[in-house]
Amino acid sequence: MNKDLVILGIESSCDDTSAAVLRGSKVLSNVIANQSIHEKYGGVVPELASRAHQQNIIPVIDTAIKKAKIKKSEIDLIAYTKGPGLLGSLLVGSSFAKSFSLALNKPLVAVNHMKAHILAHFIDQENHTKPTFPFLCLTVSGGHTQIVIVKNHNDMEIIGTTIDDAAGEAFDKSAKVLGLKYPGGPLIDKYGKNGNINAFTFGKPKIKDLNFSFSGLKTSILNQVNSSVMKNPKFIHENLNDLCASIQHSIVKILLDKVTKAISQTNIKNIAIAGGVSANSYFRKELIKLSKKDKLNIYIPKLEYCTDNAAMIAIAGKYKYKKNETADYSESANARLSF
Ligand code: KG4
Ligand code: ZN
Repeated sequence: MNKDLVILGIESSCDDTSAAVLRGSKVLSNVIANQSIHEKYGGVVPELASRAHQQNIIPVIDTAIKKAKIKKSEIDLIAYTKGPGLLGSLLVGSSFAKSFSLALNKPLVAVNHMKAHILAHFIDQENHTKPTFPFLCLTVSGGHTQIVIVKNHNDMEIIGTTIDDAAGEAFDKSAKVLGLKYPGGPLIDKYGKNGNINAFTFGKPKIKDLNFSFSGLKTSILNQVNSSVMKNPKFIHENLNDLCASIQHSIVKILLDKVTKAISQTNIKNIAIAGGVSANSYFRKELIKLSKKDKLNIYIPKLEYCTDNAAMIAIAGKYKYKKNETADYSESANARLSF
């Protein structure tokens, strides 16, 4: 019997430095250092992000190895995020991964961050069934919004994507209009829980195919909020919960309408969600409602595997390694790595 591989995953594509150790598909440790430095700037500042990765990478990897209660020599494979992401951030993780692989004399695998978000579903998780192929995955993060047909672990096809902002950006930019800190998605989620989803209505995109657009919604929110604040300077404060609930409802409706369309076009009824925005509680609730109405099999990952984490990089590395797709040391980080 083959023994389960011990995989070290390294993620540094944006503003989270993360390292995880998996034995097979089981997580032994998954350590994430967030960067609060960006809060006051209303978005990730690339230069500050790469500097923070430099400071965090060694302690985070050290902690992940210690928490997993393994020795460095037990690591069989190192998987790192090659892209897409911020180049300066990616370079920190990829340089460390290459050096560590050379030092330990262990194979290296370069992982696509967006595929890894999807493959997070194959991490062993309590109360979570792994999806059956083929399935549709709606991957919604700070940088991407994609509907993907997943035929198997290594065969995926994008059938819809955003033509402007990503869903996470729609959350974060709307939050910024309301004066909330970055990242605003979790705050909109929090305040929206106590608000009325129908209190405000915003512009809806008119995109016919499976692609998304959020820029019109953003402008509509900005215009409504600005004109209301001119009349009443306390408008945001007095309506924060309702504004958040209505914004959240608008974004989630755009997402789920496209999922419904993709289901009717592909006839695939196994639906997974992935990426940071899939942590949104209203989105999860609405997806469950839709699944009951349309008899769908839905797959929702644990919260810690929705937002950026290295466990998803490790599991993606495992499936690439199975196909003997190891990385060359000359391979470099790629900010715009294609799917
Ligand atoms: O996947 P992720 O952690 O990083 C990227 O690869 O981009 O996604 C980050 C995005 C941010 O835009 C953040 O605001 C959003 O996910 N997000 C949420 C929630 N948690 C994270 N958006 C809405 N509701 C949430 N609970
Ligand atoms: Zn991500």
